[in-house]
Amino acid sequence: MPDPREELAALAAALSAHARRSAWRGRRKSPLPPAPQGSPATGPAAGAPPTGFLGTAARTSAGPAEPPRAPTPVTVPPSPAMARGETAAKVPGGSPGGAPAPSLAPAEAPGRRVSRLALEAAEIQARDIRARAQACGDLASLRAAVSNCTACSLCRTRTQTVFMDGTGKVPVMFVGEAPGANEDLQGVPFVGRAGALLTDIITKGMGLAREDVVIANVLKCRPPDNRDPSDVEKILCTPWLDRQIELIGPRVLIPLGGHAAKHLLRSDSNLGGLRGRVHERDGRKVVPTFHPAYLLRSPSEKSECWKDIQLAMGELGISRKPPSGGPSAPSPRA
Ligand code: URA
Ligand code: SF4
Repeated sequence: MPDPREELAALAAALSAHARRSAWRGRRKSPLPPAPQGSPATGPAAGAPPTGFLGTAARTSAGPAEPPRAPTPVTVPPSPAMARGETAAKVPGGSPGGAPAPSLAPAEAPGRRVSRLALEAAEIQARDIRARAQACGDLASLRAAVSNCTACSLCRTRTQTVFMDGTGKVPVMFVGEAPGANEDLQGVPFVGRAGALLTDIITKGMGLAREDVVIANVLKCRPPDNRDPSDVEKILCTPWLDRQIELIGPRVLIPLGGHAAKHLLRSDSNLGGLRGRVHERDGRKVVPTFHPAYLLRSPSEKSECWKDIQLAMGELGISRKPPSGGPSAPSPRA
């Protein structure tokens, strides 16, 4: 059980940091934005292995929910800065233009189960992040603000933030879960083996150039050891993704895997209950499908993925014959 005194201290820290930042914003006469709407969710995700799009026999039934990649109770790692008793103001990093950096989440006390109170503290902190995100008028300034983000503990273990890939010339945006090791090193989403399969889905399946679509993730920093994102991390990173979607303006969103699907659709259903149909979110179409890393492990689900992709193509006004057979070699990009 969490220590209620610690919980209260965490909430008090969040509230006072929020009040300090509100006072600072008040001096700049900038209004506070509305609270974030995303409801955090945990759930199954995918693992990794081999390649190929539609390389195996078709299956007719709707696919099962993805198996969990690793059991991840809602806990968060220790924060050295907090353990040292440092305050938000001492945490390095700040946004371009001199805006104060959000503090490391006060909810992230060492190895503790995160309580409702801690999630509420994260929601409060996310309002400040939302204000910073909303102040970014274009993708370049949003990318810069994200690269300076120290809102959650992932800032201490990342090599760099992973913002997005592609131009968005075609109004479709793929949203994965979080960067992996390769993405963290290269600063580009989906460049590993799962990325090779995603590239094949886009190029060989949809007949589009990878650079013409947008690819991003729910989290902009890599969770260590490829663990699942925590609820606190998702709450804190959501304002960046929301603003990113606003600035890019895709007509169709394709969440990849259960994490992204539940997150974008603000749903508690698992992927099996969400995929196979077109949803709507804030006037955009949302077509969830399997995470490519899961398809690498379960290639028999590729035909189901192809059905989802065809739904998305229908929304985009793209028609194309199903791809025959798998690719002989993964894209060199991945
Ligand atoms: N898996 C994801 O969800 N995102 C990436 O960028 C890479 C792998
Ligand atoms: Fe900030 Fe998101 Fe990175 Fe956490 S994961 S530090 S909220 S950009």
